[in-house]
Amino acid sequence: MQLQGSGQTFPAGWFQIGWSYELARGEVRPLRFFGEDLVLCRYESGAVGLFNAYCPHMNANIGYGGRTVGETLACPYHGWQFDKSGCNTHIPYSSRVSQSKGLRSWHVVELGGSVILAWHSPDGSAPSFDPPGPDELPGIGESTFCPVGPDTSRRYAELPMHIDFVTENTVDMSHFKFVHETPEMGSILELDPVDHRFHVRFSMPMKLYGPDGGGEVVDAVTEVTNWGLGLILARFTDGASLIQAQTPIDDTRCELMLTMVLPRNVSGSDTPTGEQLARFKMACRQVENDMVIWTHRRAGAQAHLVAEEIAPFKTFMKWKRQFYPAPPAVGSQTQRASRSESEVKS
Ligand code: FES
Ligand SMILES: [Fe+2]
Repeated sequence: MQLQGSGQTFPAGWFQIGWSYELARGEVRPLRFFGEDLVLCRYESGAVGLFNAYCPHMNANIGYGGRTVGETLACPYHGWQFDKSGCNTHIPYSSRVSQSKGLRSWHVVELGGSVILAWHSPDGSAPSFDPPGPDELPGIGESTFCPVGPDTSRRYAELPMHIDFVTENTVDMSHFKFVHETPEMGSILELDPVDHRFHVRFSMPMKLYGPDGGGEVVDAVTEVTNWGLGLILARFTDGASLIQAQTPIDDTRCELMLTMVLPRNVSGSDTPTGEQLARFKMACRQVENDMVIWTHRRAGAQAHLVAEEIAPFKTFMKWKRQFYPAPPAVGSQTQRASRSESEVKS
C-alpha cells in the first residue's frame, strides 16, 4: 500500500537507514527518519521491509514488540498482520481483513547485502532514479571483498545539522587545509553534474596515517560522486570504496553513516588488515573534523564567497535544487531549505 507521505520537507533520493549485519532474520526494529516513526523488519525469506510504524487498528508502534510471521509483519497489540505492500492480510479474531487500512510501505534495497537504503520523496512517489550499482560500488557483497561489519562501518547519530552541509563539502576546496590538515589547498579538476549524479575530481596533497599515526604527505587525486543528496561515494585505485551517507531524522537533526568496502587481503580473511582499518579510521577522523564545524555552523545565514570559490558552489546549488519540491526558503532553519542556498553570494 503506497500512500502519500506526510513529509514535505526533505529531499528526494536514496538514503541509508542502516546496515544489513544489524538486522537478523525475523528481527523488527523501530527507526526514526524523515520526521516519521518507522518500522524495519527482515522476513524469514531474508527480504527487508520498511513501513510507517503506527498500526491503523489502534495506533500501536509496531517497531516495539512487533514480529514477523512468515512474510508478514504482525502488530504486538492485537496481532493484525500486514504483507510486504502494507496491506492487512489477517486479523486473528475476525474472518475479515481491513481493505482500506494498511501501513505505508517504503521502497527499500540492500546494496550487496551490506547497506540498507530507503527511497524518500516529498510527495511519496516511486523512485525516480536507481540506487548505486556495481559500477559505482565495485565488490560490495562479493566473496573477494571483506563483509561489511562493525569494524568497517561507523554511525554518528543525532547530529544537529543539515544534510546538505556534507555534500557541499565536496566542492569546498578551501576548507581542506584548515579542517583536514592538508598542507596546501586542493584544486578541482572536474565537476560533472549529470541527472542525480554530481561527480567531482580534485587534486590534493594528503597526509597519510598508518596504524601508528603515520604522517607522510602524498599528492592524491580523489574522485567522489554525490548520488543525490543522501550518499557520497568515493572509489580508490586499489578497489576499495567509501560510502558516506547522511539521512535526515527530522527538521533539525541527521544521522551520518560511513562504510568502507575493502578487498580481502591475500590471506582471504574476513577481517581487514591493520593498514586497511587505519585507513578507515583516518576517513572517520576527517569526517569528525568536519562535524565540529557542521554541527555548530549558523543556519540560514548568508555567506560571502570570493571569486576563487564561487563557481563550484553555484554549480552544486543549481544541481541540488532538483531534489527539493520547491525553491528553498531563504532563512529556513529546516532540512527543507539548504542553509547554503543563501550563501552563494559574493
Ligand atoms: S493496534 Fe495493532 S493490532 Fe491493534
Ligand atoms: Fe570536509
